[in-house]
Amino acid sequence: MDSARPHERPTAFDRMLTPVHRWIWSDADRRVQKLLRFSETETDGGRDILRAAEVTPDPLLRRLYLEHAIDEFRHGVLFRHRAAELLKVSASCSSPGFHGDWLAPGGHGLDDLQVDGESDRNMLAFLHLSEKAAASRFTVYRDVMQHDPPTRAIFAEILHDETFHMNYTLMQLARVEPERHRRHLWWARLSRIWKAYLRLATGLAGILGSTLLTIQYFVLLPPFAWLAKRAARKERSGWTLVSPGHNDSLDRQY
Ligand SMILES: [Fe+2]
Ligand SMILES: [Fe+2]
Repeated sequence: MDSARPHERPTAFDRMLTPVHRWIWSDADRRVQKLLRFSETETDGGRDILRAAEVTPDPLLRRLYLEHAIDEFRHGVLFRHRAAELLKVSASCSSPGFHGDWLAPGGHGLDDLQVDGESDRNMLAFLHLSEKAAASRFTVYRDVMQHDPPTRAIFAEILHDETFHMNYTLMQLARVEPERHRRHLWWARLSRIWKAYLRLATGLAGILGSTLLTIQYFVLLPPFAWLAKRAARKERSGWTLVSPGHNDSLDRQY
């Protein structure tokens, strides 16, 4: 069973993207923006898991969800404090440039979580895969962060928790659904693949949209601007006399 693995190694896909992650995290402003976004993701995830603790009928899961939610809130605080420290030494506070969020998302994908109306088995399957993805990505982020030891230490600390979350969710899934837990994992996996596709498609659509609008701006707009200027040059300046035929009635709208 997967739970026998105490630690997670990065997936082949995350390992393949290591140079991209290294580039994304190399810029100080981009790092601040990403840490702030990670902080939001962790805090939102913690809030959803807290809601899961409220609605579950299982006392053991309620306790585990509560501890899990506290961990996620703590991760959010760690990321935010680190972003604040980096901001103090960085001159600018915002960078509108490329952040590669669809290439280096905030670990969990917990933002996709729908708690209300979800059974514990679906919840656990979703959480297990989300935590597994987080552990994989945070391993890579930690490894590419050699140039920033404090941020690296935060990723290492959070990675420890994410590995625990990954393992406990799988063990609990096997407890509440001993016969069919693999099937639930596959359904959750397919759902994540679909959402990952949508995220990627949204990112690509953003790039394509910006490219097409830029081309339109520089290729299609100049002829219209030229025609408008030429038409404006033909217009007589100042007041112009109106012919009597157009000036005979003021008692109707047109
Ligand atoms: Fe977390
Ligand atoms: Fe987690």
